Amino acid sequence: MSENKKLVWIIGASSGIGESLVPLYAGAGWRVVVSARNEQKLQALAQDNENTESVPLDVTDGAQVAAALDRFQQRDEVPDLTVFCSGIYYPGGIKMLTEEFSVASMDTNYQGAVRVIAGLFPLLKKKGSGHIAIISSLSAYSGLPNAVCYGPTKAALNNLCESLKPEFDKAGLHLTTINPGFVKTPMTDQNKFPMPFIVTAEHAAQKIFKGLQTRKFEVFFPSFLGFVLKFLRVLPYALYFPIAKRITKQ
Ligand SMILES: NC(=O)c1ccc[n+]([C@@H]2O[C@H](COP(=O)([O-])OP(=O)(O)OC[C@H]3O[C@@H](n4cnc5c(N)ncnc54)[C@H](OP(=O)(O)O)[C@@H]3O)[C@@H](O)[C@H]2O)c1
Repeated sequence: MSENKKLVWIIGASSGIGESLVPLYAGAGWRVVVSARNEQKLQALAQDNENTESVPLDVTDGAQVAAALDRFQQRDEVPDLTVFCSGIYYPGGIKMLTEEFSVASMDTNYQGAVRVIAGLFPLLKKKGSGHIAIISSLSAYSGLPNAVCYGPTKAALNNLCESLKPEFDKAGLHLTTINPGFVKTPMTDQNKFPMPFIVTAEHAAQKIFKGLQTRKFEVFFPSFLGFVLKFLRVLPYALYFPIAKRITKQ
């Protein structure tokens, strides 16, 4: 890997949106480190893309996240950009609300991001520059049916990013929350309900790639669905629930 190129760490790169981000960054001349649990998929990505290295890890294991951060430090480098894409999704309502599914969802989607942010922040602060982007979801804006385990993890992520933003600003660092609508990936292939305005993983990756260049706090898409959901979340509940019920055909 060449030393003077920008370095992006894509976590959750073995599939879906994360996987589609890899050729965009590699093609734009970045060095890319890809992480997830599926070592075979990561190896294939490293073979198929320029300047791409595989660092397998499970974000639910703090020691594995720490080891990946140590690996950067041993090379005297810190990622210029880290995109946290790891996530799991158990679709469904009350029947899916078990401790097992709820804890697993939080451990990957929320605590996984916490492990990465908490480990990276001091390194970025010391370096004086850097950008962390967390893929959350439009479902973070307000509670939606069929997402009783998933939605709360994403709401927590957005709240976390809002809480951290002032400290990132103070340290001269960038933090972005990415809120996609429906994207066709193995995650949404499980859904048995209509997914309005669904886009391909490649389209989503393009939106994220371009959006992160602006270094804005939030990247969201598709715009129409995003604005509708932003409007719904400011409504009083007496109006919110009937509209949400109609939209989600519950
Ligand atoms: N698809 C959508 O409509 C949509 C909409 C809004 C937000 N999102 C969010 O976008 C992100 C990417 O989702 P996707 O749709 O691309 O789904 P996906 O194709 O299922 O990809 C999920 C990624 O997360 C990784 N992952 C899961 N558990 C992990 C763990 N314990 N440690 C490390 N990596 C782990 C998976 O890799 P391994 O299994 O190899 O570990 C995979 O690379 C997720 O945060 C998701 O919530 C998706």
